[in-house]
Amino acid sequence: MLLPRLAENCCLLSLSLLVCLITAALAADPYVFYDWTVSYITASPLGLKQQVIGVDGIFPGPILNVTTNWNVVINVKNNLDEPFLLTWNGIQQRKNSWQDGVSGTNCPIPAGWNWTYQFQVKDQIGSFFYFPSLGLQRAAGGYGGIVINNREVIAVPFGAPDGDITLFISDWYIKSHKSLRNDLESKNGGLGPPDGVLFNGLGPYQFDKALVRDGIPYQIINVEPGKTYRIRVHNVGISTSLNFRIQNHNMVLVETEGSYTVQQNYSNMDIHVGQSYSFLVTMDQDASTDYYIVASPRFVNASTWTKASGVAILHYSNSRGPASGPLPDPPHEYDTFFSMNQARSIRWNVSAGAARPNPQGSFRYGQITVTDVYVILNRPPELVDGKWRNTLNGISYIAPSTPLRLAQQFKVDGVFKLDFPNRFMNRPAKMDTSVINGTFKGFMEIIFQNNDTSVQSYHLDGHAFFVVGMDYGVWTENSRSTYNKWDGVARSTTQVFPGAWTAILVSLDNAGIWNLRTQNLDSWYLGQESYISVVNPENDNDEVQLPDNVIYCGVLSPLQKDQAQRVHFSGASSSDKIIEIVLIAIIVTLLGLSGTS
Ligand SMILES: *[C@@H]1O[C@H](CO)[C@@H](O)[C@H](O)[C@H]1NC(C)=O
Ligand SMILES: *[C@@H]1O[C@H](CO)[C@@H](O)[C@H](O)[C@H]1NC(C)=O
Ligand SMILES: *[C@@H]1O[C@H](CO)[C@@H](O)[C@H](O)[C@H]1NC(C)=O
Ligand SMILES: *[C@@H]1O[C@H](CO)[C@@H](O)[C@H](O)[C@H]1NC(C)=O
Ligand SMILES: *[C@@H]1O[C@H](CO)[C@@H](O)[C@H](O)[C@H]1NC(C)=O
Ligand SMILES: *[C@@H]1O[C@H](CO)[C@@H](O)[C@H](O)[C@H]1NC(C)=O
Ligand SMILES: *[C@@H]1O[C@H](CO)[C@@H](O)[C@H](O)[C@H]1NC(C)=O
Repeated sequence: MLLPRLAENCCLLSLSLLVCLITAALAADPYVFYDWTVSYITASPLGLKQQVIGVDGIFPGPILNVTTNWNVVINVKNNLDEPFLLTWNGIQQRKNSWQDGVSGTNCPIPAGWNWTYQFQVKDQIGSFFYFPSLGLQRAAGGYGGIVINNREVIAVPFGAPDGDITLFISDWYIKSHKSLRNDLESKNGGLGPPDGVLFNGLGPYQFDKALVRDGIPYQIINVEPGKTYRIRVHNVGISTSLNFRIQNHNMVLVETEGSYTVQQNYSNMDIHVGQSYSFLVTMDQDASTDYYIVASPRFVNASTWTKASGVAILHYSNSRGPASGPLPDPPHEYDTFFSMNQARSIRWNVSAGAARPNPQGSFRYGQITVTDVYVILNRPPELVDGKWRNTLNGISYIAPSTPLRLAQQFKVDGVFKLDFPNRFMNRPAKMDTSVINGTFKGFMEIIFQNNDTSVQSYHLDGHAFFVVGMDYGVWTENSRSTYNKWDGVARSTTQVFPGAWTAILVSLDNAGIWNLRTQNLDSWYLGQESYISVVNPENDNDEVQLPDNVIYCGVLSPLQKDQAQRVHFSGASSSDKIIEIVLIAIIVTLLGLSGTS
């Protein structure tokens, strides 16, 4: 730790440039190492025993607490009964989609196997989370927080808080993720109201005996009067937008998914599936009682969803009584304009430094020429080839057994097509592996048009994008006149309201293959995703090389050694490497031949 700091101070003071460069070169970014076993554990979040996915034996999993540019090495052992991958929501994996942990970039870690992720949290700060990316597993847990702290040389745009608290809010079903999968495949109409809303994997405090059964353990947040805490809130749920609020307490919004925002007061915030926010909350209320912390479903009929409110307790150290009174009021249940106006009020603090010393706003996105425009339309589930599927521009994504990135690396033809349409095509919906052909260093405008009846949130891996506009109705070219070209916030997940559109701008400066998906697990599971392929045409080596421990599957599975052998031979051997290269060459040749015949 001494060396990096020396290097930074040295560069700041710009002493001898040469000494500075040498010191910096010697001062490698620190590494952190973890061994995580992923397994089923028993929990009773809503009072009934069920199987949940624990990471390192706990649910939610451990918080990954690192600083900008640190290297992270995590050996993940899959003790579940099915294939598994973790993805790192919002972590950009610069030039390294090999570590992204989604089906288009990685072969799943088979049950009983382990796989070691290794990546750098390059040029990022803020609050993110990891979660299992396959087959609706997030509905059973398996998630945890990621905190990336500022380097010491870059000031945080607010005073150091007295404490740092992570809260996961999520809708929750008592059914297992496997039966939820069956429900989605076999019937239209979705999953129906959830059985409850959890705070950090725990059920609601018994604020009303008629609504909450006895004996459910709930989350207690312990605080000291007069102190200010940074509260990081993540909606890691399945499909429900949640309104987050703390009885009688003001929340100052300071960060969304890696960007410092203009600091503003809110009494509540709509947090959509997959979104992350940081608030500063000062404990400035009468400290003799506790207070409710609430996460309640939005845009649903409150009288039929009454059982689905998450309630935790804010406990002042010298409190002498429980929280009391009704839960603080949510915004009106069908007031979608409130929610859209609130979303529009979130802005980027252009003068704050973040991962780099220069202010966030020095990347003047509003002045960059757009090179590609995609208008992406989603619709409610529909029958495609006799199956219930969700589509984007009429295409329901099919994950091939060979991940896209591996197919690209080994030049295996026919796994995917770079033909994702830039507009909705008036043709029957189909299932396909259709990918967006991104332009390296291009500046892409994407308009999401939501023709479904529920809020969808969209996420792009590998990048942060600028949220520049959203409105009700159908997007037209004229809608661009309403764009925020100055301080739209950069983030990685945005909501799109039903019957409305959201426009984002994104700089495709990260070579790789990147997942573009809805974060809503139900529509994601039914095919509402694609990928953006970003290739540097001048330099094939622009990306981090294929990791040595890569797992092979699909048409490349002959390259895979079984894991017992792999562990046995680890540490050996250039001869192993040579055999591997020869094998690869043979297979690629064979595939090439079969492709041409
Ligand atoms: C992260 O670790 C630092 C010490 O390295 C500690 O000061 C900080 O409170 C930790 N943050 C979280 C969120 O655990
Ligand atoms: C599996 O874990 C062992 C140590 O327990 C490690 O040596 C090996 O590299 C890991 N395998 C992979 C593919 O990461
Ligand atoms: C924006 O960031 C600057 C620089 O850190 C800080 O001084 C200022 O208070 C922030 N402004 C708002 C409105 O959040
Ligand atoms: C937020 O509310 C506090 C009082 O709770 C007030 O002092 C502060 O000025 C408000 N900030 C803004 C930006 O309105
Ligand atoms: C909400 O549900 C209740 C009970 O089913 C029903 O009576 C009421 O009409 C519904 N309200 C709206 C606005 O749909
Ligand atoms: C993808 O785009 C590149 C330019 O960025 C172009 O050269 C290439 O032909 C395109 N590929 C396909 C299959 O359309
Ligand atoms: C989407 O919804 C809009 C407004 O409700 C409607 O005008 C349009 O025809 C719909 N488009 C499709 C392809 O369903």
